[in-house]
Amino acid sequence: MNKAKRKAVIAGNWKMNKTPSEAKALLQEIIPVAEGAGCEVIACVPYVDLAVALETVEGTNVKIGAENCHWAESGAFTGEISTGMLKEMGVEYVVIGHSERRQYFGETDETVNKRTKAALAAGLKPIVCVGELLWERECDITEEVIARQIKLDLYDVSAEDAKKTIIAYEPVWAIGTGKTATADQAEEVCAFIRAELAKKYDEETAQAITIQYGGSMNDANAAELLSKENVDGGLIGGASLVAAKFGAIIDAATKG
Ligand code: PGA
Repeated sequence: MNKAKRKAVIAGNWKMNKTPSEAKALLQEIIPVAEGAGCEVIACVPYVDLAVALETVEGTNVKIGAENCHWAESGAFTGEISTGMLKEMGVEYVVIGHSERRQYFGETDETVNKRTKAALAAGLKPIVCVGELLWERECDITEEVIARQIKLDLYDVSAEDAKKTIIAYEPVWAIGTGKTATADQAEEVCAFIRAELAKKYDEETAQAITIQYGGSMNDANAAELLSKENVDGGLIGGASLVAAKFGAIIDAATKG
């Protein structure tokens, strides 16, 4: 992290976990461990938990995000949620293009781009996920894959909007597997992403964008990952469901 240049952001991605009552209980445990944090703290929760989550964190430093949004303002899209619906509730962030959505729900770079632009237009801050599959890494095309995702996912996004966007580098092979990228691997790709952003926009814009690492980040490895210059925070799945572990990651980001 380079806090002089960028805001560190620790975000939990709860995925399909926690009913509304369980969400309230977990947030009540997260609020005290997040108090006074020297980084932004976000919990991205299932849609049905948003109302109770927003109510529970009111007046605290914990922010709430959704895990997806649709690109249309309204219409015949059964099962989808629009950015206007999220915005009216008071949601601030939204995860877009998570690898699980790409893998199981047909999300493509084109739909990621449409969702990202819709989120920005509505005043939501998108957390756009990119990352290579294991076989892509083994074929030594990680940089090609990431460069392509950055170009397509941020197509037609202005520099001003890009600064409101968080990029989460999540190597797909490290998600939920317990296999974390080493701090050097994470830094290498996060630095590459920043260089691509500098090419697409300019150096000043690239330096202003928060780039998170995600993939089995936990209380034991967070400090080392976050010590890297271009790793500005984390998108955390499993460990964000345990307040003590999430708190330890917030502490690491505060100290780092
Ligand atoms: P994990 O998930 O921390 O459980 O690996 C990270 C993510 O999918 O955002």
